[in-house]
Amino acid sequence: MDLYEYQARDLFEKYGVPVLPGIIADTPEEAKAAAKKIGGVVVVKAQVKTGGRGKAGGVKVAKNADEAYEAAKAILGLDIKGHVVQRVMVAAGASIEQEFYFSVLLDRSNRSYLSLCSVEGGMEIEQLAVEKPEALARVEVNPLTGIDKDKAVEIATAAKFPAELVDKVADVFVKLYDVYQGEGATLVEVNPLILDGNGNIIALDGKVTLDDNASEVRHPEHEELEDKGAADPLEAKAKESGLNYVKLDGEVGIIGNGAGLVMSTLDVVAYAGENHGGVKPANFLDIGGGASATVMAAGLDVILGDPQVKSVFVNVFGGITSCVAVADGIVKALEILGDTATKPLVVRLDGNQVEEGRAILAAANHPLVTLAAGMDEGADKAAELAAA
Ligand SMILES: Nc1ncnc2c1ncn2[C@@H]1O[C@H](COP(=O)(O)OP(=O)(O)OP(=O)(O)O)[C@@H](O)[C@H]1O
Ligand SMILES: [Mg+2]
Repeated sequence: MDLYEYQARDLFEKYGVPVLPGIIADTPEEAKAAAKKIGGVVVVKAQVKTGGRGKAGGVKVAKNADEAYEAAKAILGLDIKGHVVQRVMVAAGASIEQEFYFSVLLDRSNRSYLSLCSVEGGMEIEQLAVEKPEALARVEVNPLTGIDKDKAVEIATAAKFPAELVDKVADVFVKLYDVYQGEGATLVEVNPLILDGNGNIIALDGKVTLDDNASEVRHPEHEELEDKGAADPLEAKAKESGLNYVKLDGEVGIIGNGAGLVMSTLDVVAYAGENHGGVKPANFLDIGGGASATVMAAGLDVILGDPQVKSVFVNVFGGITSCVAVADGIVKALEILGDTATKPLVVRLDGNQVEEGRAILAAANHPLVTLAAGMDEGADKAAELAAA
């Protein structure tokens, strides 16, 4: 889960990372009141889960409360890369002497953590990495030992911080690592980390990605950080039922077991769709092993709730789960759903006890269900039904 800047700011504060006062506002009036409360120059910042807010006009300096009102009015409702701004943060204005970059992240390819750091912060780090790779230090961080003071000094030195700042920024790096480790994050990024006119190091911006697997077990309190309003309603519903579902932009609903099989099913359906007016897969849904009637019903319920869906392709390979259980699951799921099941279903079963499974579906003779002998045939049939 990605956090909003203000949520990252709050976490930083909790771990003693130096941040400036910041108050969220959902209306220009609230922004004005926030600016009054903070006093002096403030910066009004769009709260959206995407980068490049400044360039898009989502970060504005306001010299007083009235200007904060106007800034918020201009920013609220702004579309930044497809994210409409619903909320701003009014932050105290900093006097910036220098801008730096710091991040620590999960480096999957090296099965390790990685810290990136540069004394040339502020600009987009992707751009810096391409144009001036020598200005971006990359320091591997051992997950077992993390970033202690020594490691932090190593990072600051590799990034060529001036000697007089090394100790000071290193203290902040240690605290940012505490956030990363303590909250079970896969990314903590500060751009810019600044040196202000009084010689203080301050995190002016923050991006935090929490590891959902860690949140589920170790951090039940993270649930409060979830932005339920912004999530896709179908994805939210699927999540409630514990389903592995991703909404896509097509017409053919997909149910399969095993991520690999579901991924190939998406490809095969997209390919078959080319012969049927360009219909595409409507979702990814992996019901995993088991495929019980309840899971099947929950999956079908989510997919049939998608108004874009015109047909559904159930593609299951019986491995440990037998096709008998899957076929029973489909029949019972259709019973559970009753009249709410209205769209045609193409079912392809293969593997363990396939004949028995097919026999169950044939005997049930449900008017919405068509049996397909193979994956390509099923994909083609489902695409044809979606195009009809
Ligand atoms: N509180 C502040 N006081 C003074 N200047 C600020 C403040 N916050 C941000 N700025 C200035 O605005 C610039 C952009 O701010 P910020 O990094 O928060 O947004 P962004 O980089 O455009 O967004 P993103 O990081 O999402 O791409 C900063 O580099 C800094 O120069
Ligand atoms: Mg930034």
